[in-house]
Amino acid sequence: MQRPILDREPTRNLALELVRVTEAAALAAGRFLGRGDKNAADKAAVDAIRLVLNSIDMKGRIIIGEGEKDEAPMLFNGEAVGSWEHGPEVDIAVDPIDGTRPLANGNLNAIAIVAIAPRGTMFDPGPFLYMNKIAVGPEAKGVINIERSITDNLKAIAQAKGKQLEDLTCVILDRPRHDGMVAEMRQAGVRIRLIPDGDVAGALMTSWGDSGIDALFGIGGTPEGVITACALRAMGGEIQGKLYARNDSEKQRGEAQGYDFHKILTMDDLVASDDVFFAATGITNGELLQGVKYLSQGAKTDSLVVRGLTGTIREITATHRWEKLRTLSAIDY
Ligand code: FBP
Repeated sequence: MQRPILDREPTRNLALELVRVTEAAALAAGRFLGRGDKNAADKAAVDAIRLVLNSIDMKGRIIIGEGEKDEAPMLFNGEAVGSWEHGPEVDIAVDPIDGTRPLANGNLNAIAIVAIAPRGTMFDPGPFLYMNKIAVGPEAKGVINIERSITDNLKAIAQAKGKQLEDLTCVILDRPRHDGMVAEMRQAGVRIRLIPDGDVAGALMTSWGDSGIDALFGIGGTPEGVITACALRAMGGEIQGKLYARNDSEKQRGEAQGYDFHKILTMDDLVASDDVFFAATGITNGELLQGVKYLSQGAKTDSLVVRGLTGTIREITATHRWEKLRTLSAIDY
């Protein structure tokens, strides 16, 4: 008879190692708050992430990297990271800064993110940058359907949560491409939070604490969609998506490469395992996480650490001391 899993030796919680990665990225990138230089901030975060990721015992391959959309210095797709001496074979998704623009402009909700899943389980979006998404928290899991209208989804979410439509608060990126969706949401009577950037944080808010956010709708980054799936798998929420082509030539190129723009991408399509790890650290203040606070002798960070297998969500506040860190680390804090 198979023993219950808790009788076994506890397996390693890579998420607790991942939080060192996102903390390093946030500490390095936080220096660029409001300095108007997106690329310098991205480079600082990417360099810190790469350095700390390579110290983890794993055979990692970047599936969701940094780069194409932001033309940023890369943690490129396919790059090998980790020690490659011991440890599991894993797919890795990084978003060194989700919210480079708000960070550069000194605004809210920029976070550093890393997710890990067993090798071969993460959806590889290739060069297809955008995806239509609906994300909800645990109470509305199983009732959304991206094929149906926004109004039908809102009604299903309201019913699942025992709320009236006017009690729902939905997040959507503030983009002209969403004018039709926003009009339909207004018609339905729900409350709307138009966010300038950062739809990973927007999606996570549906499943975390008392943010008061019921759903995320709209077209955002495909990499961000995969990363969101890793987190929501563990947090008990749900995301559904569909690849979105910005024009006919992008669609034709995608179809020639075997991508299906009609297929509903479920949680299982986006990440086909519960054995996922996710960490995020606040760079600037937000509703999900506090930003980095720089002190005279160090800094404080606020992170969310999630393990899919157990569903444990940890909020980790850390105090970092420059005196120690600067002698130990190659990162320019
Ligand atoms: P970056 O900071 O990595 O550029 O992403 C910010 C973001 O707002 C994502 O959260 C979102 O998925 C995507 O950009 C939306 O793309 P666009 O700004 O092109 O509409």
